[in-house]
Amino acid sequence: MSEKPKYYITTPIYYPSDNLHIGHSYCSTAADTMARFKRLTGYDVYFLTGTDEHGQKIERKAKDAGVTPKEYVDHIVDGIKKLWKLMDVDYSDFIRTTDDRHVRGVQKIFRQLYEQDDIYMGQYEGWYCTPCESFWTELQLKDGCCPDCGRPVERMREDAYFFRLSKYQDWLIQYIREHPDFIQPSARTAEMLNNFLLPGLQDICVSRTSIKWGIPVDFMPNHAVYVWIDALSNYITALGYGTDHDELYQKYWPADLHLVGKEIVRFHTIIWPIMLHALGLPLPKQVFGHGWLVIDGGKMSKSKGNVVDPVRLCERYSSDAVRYFLMREMPFGADGEFTNEALVKRINSDLANDLGNLVSRSVAMVEKYFGGEIPAPDAYTDLDRELIAEAEGLNPLVEREMDGLNFSQALTGIWHLIGSCNRYIDQTTPWILAKNEADRPRLGTVLYVLLECARIVAIMISPVMPRTPERIFNQIGVTDDELKSWNSTRSFGQLPAGHVHKGEALFPRIDVARELEMLDQEQKAAKAAAEKEENEAVFTQKDLIAYEDFEHLQLVVAKVLTCEKVPKADKLLRFTLKVGNTERTVVSGIAKYYKPEELIGKKVVLLANLAPRKIRGIESNGMLLCAATADDSVLRLLTVDGDIPDGCAIS
Ligand code: MSP
Repeated sequence: MSEKPKYYITTPIYYPSDNLHIGHSYCSTAADTMARFKRLTGYDVYFLTGTDEHGQKIERKAKDAGVTPKEYVDHIVDGIKKLWKLMDVDYSDFIRTTDDRHVRGVQKIFRQLYEQDDIYMGQYEGWYCTPCESFWTELQLKDGCCPDCGRPVERMREDAYFFRLSKYQDWLIQYIREHPDFIQPSARTAEMLNNFLLPGLQDICVSRTSIKWGIPVDFMPNHAVYVWIDALSNYITALGYGTDHDELYQKYWPADLHLVGKEIVRFHTIIWPIMLHALGLPLPKQVFGHGWLVIDGGKMSKSKGNVVDPVRLCERYSSDAVRYFLMREMPFGADGEFTNEALVKRINSDLANDLGNLVSRSVAMVEKYFGGEIPAPDAYTDLDRELIAEAEGLNPLVEREMDGLNFSQALTGIWHLIGSCNRYIDQTTPWILAKNEADRPRLGTVLYVLLECARIVAIMISPVMPRTPERIFNQIGVTDDELKSWNSTRSFGQLPAGHVHKGEALFPRIDVARELEMLDQEQKAAKAAAEKEENEAVFTQKDLIAYEDFEHLQLVVAKVLTCEKVPKADKLLRFTLKVGNTERTVVSGIAKYYKPEELIGKKVVLLANLAPRKIRGIESNGMLLCAATADDSVLRLLTVDGDIPDGCAIS
């Protein structure tokens, strides 16, 4: 017997977040759908997913929660695994970047790149935003603050290792040009070339001394491997690359498909191929960047209270219904808007009505007119042949669309057949045929055609909806595995004699108006809860400091003499402050909360001995103390009560 061809597919490894939403399920559902499709069509599939667990953000969150980073991620990873189980995401392996096998693999890769001089020691300098763990260039800053979260940034410099991306730039440009399928959809190829490769690559920083929760560089342990070398390597460390047990690597690498969200295509098609090439390894065959599921045109976020919880949806509508919606609603490469209305309407019309009706009506009629026994077909008419041709045409159509990752088009094709079947029932009017004994052979043919179409549909939907097919097979009396196989959909008329069994409706019909009202209320409640949580300040005690440390801070009363907006900087106010017999300029990012004229004359609290910083070309000498909510929605300046001269010390 010939060996099955192999197929290796991956999702990105997810950041352990306590905020997993339906958008995260999108990529995993697609990868699982593809893995199932490939298995169904005869491939030996390996499907990898996992979690990306290092970094300062995790370190900080763990500290806030009073646990170790490992304890913190362990808990979240459990939740992620439960979600994949609930959604029938049936992976072959789950890699965690904290796994020993990964840590050792990354250290080995790092060392090899260093030894062959693709990694070298340098100095990294930039504006650093601690909450976002990101360095920014001067140009990227917005109003002198982090362009992502708007918070202040600090100038930081540290020793760091760099990876020579620039050395491989010409090679990669040529590779991408010679392999037009490498980056998909193809518009992303142009984006990578024009926006990143052709303007010129810069070497990237691949280690940090300021991050403790990371994989130590084994030959320089005060450095932790920084982000992408750690994260991207998972695709091969999971296969045992570089160990004595690399059978999986030998068998499955190179990957056939890396499925990733559009925002990380860049890392997968620039850094990753260069890493692999530098290591002398073959490149993945394809990186596909899918679109985003958005809400009101934007990202889902906990603070906006618009996060859609996949667990809730699966529990209410079934994982098959949610998976169907995700794969059907929008073309895979494009962004799509998530709305409750679209979800509920699709489930109702496509699943409860179209698919549900086909199965329930066909089975009910076989029960009613043939005592549940599947009739043998008689002669086919032109009408039958038309439907049969459509059913037989589905196999190549679905194969083509699925291989092109056009999940939505594949499903549209399948639902076209379902629609044709439901029309066929109306055209052939079995209930009229049933009235006349002479029409019995015709009635048998019609019902046979319908059941056989239902069988083919059940097989076709199985990659997207793994649970529903078995329920259909039970109802239409298919027990033989061969009749559930992909090959059996190539030619019509495989359904043998047998019995149907009327079962429950595949998908209960939904009262759309009531359902939407209920979902709307739920969402409002979730939003209110999120707001409450956001506004309820969580106080976490920081490490204790000695009194002498506090004494280093020079806090004084300062009087606002002038205050004006900084031109072309929405967030910034420029203050002239009187501090005793001196005056100084301070720039503060609080323009959103105060009109400049409100502040003139106020006595505020100034941290006077903070090292000066240039913000938007203005030297700021000190910092005004403020109180703010965690999401910065409310911010108030600290002022001094009563009559006290400026310049007085605060202690
Ligand atoms: N850890 C990195 C990936 C490293 S891969 C070597 C990461 N993690 S993530 O958790 O932020 O995102 C994981 C995947 O979820 C990404 O592909 C991302 O695009 C996807 N999605 C997150 N939100 C999404 C939507 N709202 N819609 C669709 N997918 C989105 O990035």
